[in-house]
Parts: sequence; C-alpha cells; structure tokens
Amino acid sequence: MGKLIEDKMSGATGIAGMIAAQGPLGALTARIDAGSPLGPVAGWSPALVSTVRLMLSSQAEIVLFWGPDLCALYNEAYAPTIGDKHPRVLGRPAREGWSELWDDLEPLLRSVVGGGQSVHAKDRPFYIERDGGQGEQVFFDISYSPVFEANGSIGGALCIVSETTKRVLAEKEMRADRARLWALARDPFLIADKDGVWLAASPAWTDILGWSERELIGRTSEWMEHPDDLAKTREQISTLAGGMPTARFENRFRAKDGSYRNFSWTAVPENDLIYCVARDVTEQRAHAMALKEAEAALRQAQKMETLGQLTGGVAHDFNNLLQIVTGNLELVQRGLEKIGGEDQARLRRAVDNAMTGAERAALLTQRLLAFSRRQPLAPERIDPNRLVSGMSDLLNRTLGETIEIETIQSARVWPVEIDVNQMENALINLAVNARDAMPDGGKLTIEVANTHVDADYAAQEAEVSPGQYVLISMSDTGKGMDEEILSHAIEPFFTTKEVGRGTGLGLSMVYGFIKQSGGHFRVYSEAGHGTTVKIYLPRFYGPLPDNDTGTAERRAPECPGDETVLVCEDDEKVRAYTVDVLKELGYRVIEAADGPAALQALEGASQSIDLLFTDVILPGGMTGADIAREAQTRRPGLRVLFATGYARNAIIHHGRLDPGVELLTKPFTYAELAAKVRDMLDRAEVRHVG
Ligand SMILES: Nc1ncnc2c1ncn2[C@@H]1O[C@H](COP(=O)(O)OP(=O)(O)OP(=O)(O)O)[C@@H](O)[C@H]1O
Ligand SMILES: [Mg+2]
Repeated sequence: MGKLIEDKMSGATGIAGMIAAQGPLGALTARIDAGSPLGPVAGWSPALVSTVRLMLSSQAEIVLFWGPDLCALYNEAYAPTIGDKHPRVLGRPAREGWSELWDDLEPLLRSVVGGGQSVHAKDRPFYIERDGGQGEQVFFDISYSPVFEANGSIGGALCIVSETTKRVLAEKEMRADRARLWALARDPFLIADKDGVWLAASPAWTDILGWSERELIGRTSEWMEHPDDLAKTREQISTLAGGMPTARFENRFRAKDGSYRNFSWTAVPENDLIYCVARDVTEQRAHAMALKEAEAALRQAQKMETLGQLTGGVAHDFNNLLQIVTGNLELVQRGLEKIGGEDQARLRRAVDNAMTGAERAALLTQRLLAFSRRQPLAPERIDPNRLVSGMSDLLNRTLGETIEIETIQSARVWPVEIDVNQMENALINLAVNARDAMPDGGKLTIEVANTHVDADYAAQEAEVSPGQYVLISMSDTGKGMDEEILSHAIEPFFTTKEVGRGTGLGLSMVYGFIKQSGGHFRVYSEAGHGTTVKIYLPRFYGPLPDNDTGTAERRAPECPGDETVLVCEDDEKVRAYTVDVLKELGYRVIEAADGPAALQALEGASQSIDLLFTDVILPGGMTGADIAREAQTRRPGLRVLFATGYARNAIIHHGRLDPGVELLTKPFTYAELAAKVRDMLDRAEVRHVG
C-alpha cells in the first residue's frame, strides 16, 4: 500500500516535473493546484497531459479550454495576446478570465466541446480588455478543434490562434486612405479580379455613370459595355490577366440615362488583381468628332468654291462666245427673209438648228453660272406660300398623273426676298429629280414653314449663319441615294442618269443659287427611302409690296423711237452685233471700246444721247459703273443699261443688283435687247448709279 502511494507520488512528480521543465509557462502550469477546477497536474487525464505538453512545446499561439468549466491553459506564444490577464487566468474557468467577451466566446467554445465541431475564421473580431481594463477591438485568425479523452468523450477545445489586429487595422487605415483619395479624385478608380469582376470602385464611377456602387460591384462590366467594345474589352482583360499592363485602352460604358461615356484606361495587374484608373474622355471625343466634321464640311465648301470659280470662269467666256453666235445667227435669220429662192428654206432650217443648239448651250451656261453663284439675280420680296401654290399647275404637268403632289403651307410664313424666276426654276429642277426617282409613281410633298437656325446647328455647317429662315422642303418617296451618290450629288456634272438624259447640273444650280441668295441647302436621302431636299431662305424683314403677284412681270418688245444709244463694249463682235441690232431697230448708235473712248464720244457728240449701253468689265482702267457715274454727272438724265456675262463687282453686291441698276445678261436676244432699251427709254424718271 505504502509502495503504491509512493509510486503514484513519484509518477505525479514525474508528470509535473516534465511539464515544469517546459519553459516558464510549463513551470506555472505545473504549479496549478486544487484552487483550480482542474486540480493539480498529477490528477489530469493522459489526454489532457499530452495535449498540454504538445501545446507547451509549440511556437504557435495556442490556448486550451478544458473540462466542464472550460479552464484555460496556454503556451508562451499565446500569453502576450491576453496582456495583463496573464498569469491571472491560467487554470481559471474561461467565464472568469474572458468575462467581457463571454457572450461572444461561449457559443464558439460550446459548439466545439458540446457539438464536436471545428471552428475556423480569418480576421475574426473580438472585444477584449487586456490592458488595465481598457477595452479594444482585436482580430484573430482562429482554428478551434475538439480534444478527445481516451473514452471518446470530448475533454476540451484546442484553439490555435494568430492575432492579426495590427494587419487588419493597417489595412483598414489603408482602405480609409484609399477611400479619401478615391472620393477626391475625379477620375474613376477600379480594382478587379483577373476575370474582370469589379471588386472595388471609386465614387467617381457613380458620379459619371449614375450606377450605384452596389450595381457596379460583383460582376464584370460586360452588362454596360457598348456592344462594339465587348470583344476588345475581353481581350484587354485577358492581356492584363497574363501580366501585361494596359495604357490608353479606350471603351464605352452605358450610363444610367442611356447615353454612352468614353473611357481611356491605365491598368496594371498585381497579385491576382487588376488595378485600374480610367479617364472620362467623352467630351474630348465629341469635340474631336465635331472638329473632324467641321473640317470635312469646310473641305467640301472649299471644293465647291474652287469648282465654282472654275465653272464660273468657263461660263463667263462661253457667254461672250454665245453672244456672238446667237447674235449673228439672228442677223442671218433676218437677212434670209430678204433673199428669196429655194435656198432660203434650207438655209433657214440650218440656221434654226444652229440657233436651237446655241440656245441649249446658253441654258447650260446659265446653269453653270448659277452653280458658281455668279448669275445676276433680281430678287423680289415675295410670300413663299404664294410662290409654291402658284406653281402647282406647272408641277402637276411636269410630274404626270402617277405622282401625287401635296403642298403643306403654314400660316404667317415670313416673306423672303428672292429671284422668283430662278426660284421657280430651282423647284422645277428638284421636282424633275423627284420624278426621275419615282418611275413607278409616288408622292411629292412640298412644305413651307418658318424655322430658326441656331448657333449650334450653324457651327456644324460651313457657310451657314444662325437666324430666321423660311424652310421649303421637298420630299419624295423615290429610290433615294446611297451615301456615295449623296456625297457627290451636288457636284456639277455628277449624274447617275444615262448619257443625254441628265447634265448633272440640276442640284449644282439650285445649290449655287440658294447660296448666292444667302440661303442654305441640304439634301437628306437614304437608298430605298426617298429624298428630302431642304431650302432655307433668309427671312425678309418688312412688308410685301401690294401688287405681289407671285411671279415677275415680263414685257414684250416695243417699237423704237428717234433716239441715240452710246454702246461701250470691248469685245468687237459683241459690240458689232449690239450696234447692228440697235441700228436695225432704228436707233442712232455711237460706238466705244472702253471707258475713256465712251466719255470722249459723250463730250464730242452734237446730238443728245438718251441711253448708255455698257459692258460691266472693260479694259482701260474704268469699269462700266465708273463710266456710268462719270457720264451721268456730265449728262444728267442719261439712262444706263449694263450688260454682263457675270458681274461680281461694281454693280452687283453679293450677287444682287443694286436697286435701280438695269442689267441685261449675256447672251441676250434681239427681242430682249429691244424690249429692255424701249422699256428704259419710255420710263419717266432716271435713277443714278453709285
Ligand atoms: N430626288 C432624288 N432622288 C434620288 N436621287 C436623286 C434625287 N435628286 C438627285 N438625285 C441624284 O443626284 C444626281 C444629280 O442630280 P442633278 O439634278 O444634279 O443632275 P441630274 O438630275 O442627273 O441631271 P439634270 O438635273 O442636269 O438633268 C442624279 O443623277 C441622281 O442620281
Ligand atoms: Mg436633275
């Protein structure tokens, strides 16, 4: 019996001794006595002893809660994590030692010792008082597991822990720093994983796109990417996932309001994450686009201007040539009447054919001049509604029965000031185009309305100034034009019609005429969907004349009286023709080749001179206008008639006639010259030039 007790004693001494030998905490543990619910070490179960010994020898932070009271045993590495609780709590029930967090800790430990579960968590927050009763929030990675007795029951919970408070707080601080920076930055920041799933997004995203952080986080951006950018964005993400940084990648995201925003990206991959900063370049892109369009519009305008100068120059020379041709043909026609014989009919036919050809050439030249904005215009104030309604008969006849015409007029349309003949001509040209585009019939809609061109719209178009306009639009239901045809349609000689059917000058002429009249011209068309042509005419401020009939009056030639005309023209043949005509009409005629000669003739003439007929552009340093001014000071009452192929200067300001200036455009006919001269001489009052 005595031996047995001794053996037990020595065994106990042996276990306590072995534990005591395991460092300072081993020594403390070995000293636990009956004051602890665990009792002295000698009475501990083998499972407890071996677990304690394992724990004491470990470098990891370990605490063991044992027995019904969950008494705490821990190792050297763990002690610092409980601050001034150590060594007070060693061997004491957890409820005592961790009273401040018992509500939180007990269920965890009970689930291990009661339910046999393991508990693992990262950065698990705990509240603890370990510094003179001062409470603090701490974080631990924890791994709790049950320890079994030999009989299979659970003796306690072995808790391997690692305090992460410092790291977690540092990270929190970093996130707060980041949040402060992110909140300040106007550029949006993003952290995504390697699949492009958004993990963190700065508030700028919400400011720019309108989507909340919740809507943005947790998925890729595919749902809001522009359909055309999907493929390249995926490709960019896989490049990043492969370790390559991104610079200046651009794509578009749909904002909550439905618009798209352009972003330019800089991104770097690091540790399985992608760090990105984007820049909202929407405005820049829009500006760049607008600039490009404005440049294109300017280039187009310059091209038209150059073409205009070219055609204008050619047409001007042509007019002089045609004047000679038609003038002389007229003289031949009249001469033929005096000779008889069988040749007369044959010659007359030949001359008539030549005349028809020359007239067609004159018409063509007229269109070229119109395009080059150099045709002399005689603008009148007119009500656009009356202009359009006055044309309905003519249009009906031109378009035929298969095309329905609808005219929509608005009340109180502003008056405009425009050359009525040319305007009618323009509308007929457009209607003919519409007819040609609707071979199987269709509908033509003409609409007249007031409109306002604002500064924004004007800025997009070269040569358009903002202001109030009357809009005359003509829409057809025809075959329309594709982009290629549309981009060339206005160019002179561009036609898709077969040879002999179209000259390609219709739209050119309308364009030039409208521009010259201070208006604006646009063609909208889509292949298969018809065409709309829009003519903007500047509003005329002021009342209409009372006798506005909607069309210009034309007068027939009248018989000559007994008067003298001074003809000043440098082109000999044109002069000769003019002189011939005037003489034939019964006028006395004095000729001059330039300004000085004309003035000399005026000085030297014994008889009264009733009319000065002068070319506008002349050699010898004086223009027609100069001569007119001089002549009228010497002979007050002298009437002046100008003749011109085109007149950009002197008499015509911006292509319009000065009020009171009389003008005859070359090539003119016998009848036109006769009528004009008679008309002027019959008028009572005389207007002065200049
Ligand atoms: N309303 C329209 N619908 C479809 N295409 C059109 C229309 N108006 C013009 N076009 C196209 O533009 C081209 C140029 O038109 P434009 O009036 O300048 O010349 P054209 O009609 O061919 O010849 P011209 O008018 O001298 O007889 C046409 O050949 C046609 O291809
Ligand atoms: Mg045409």
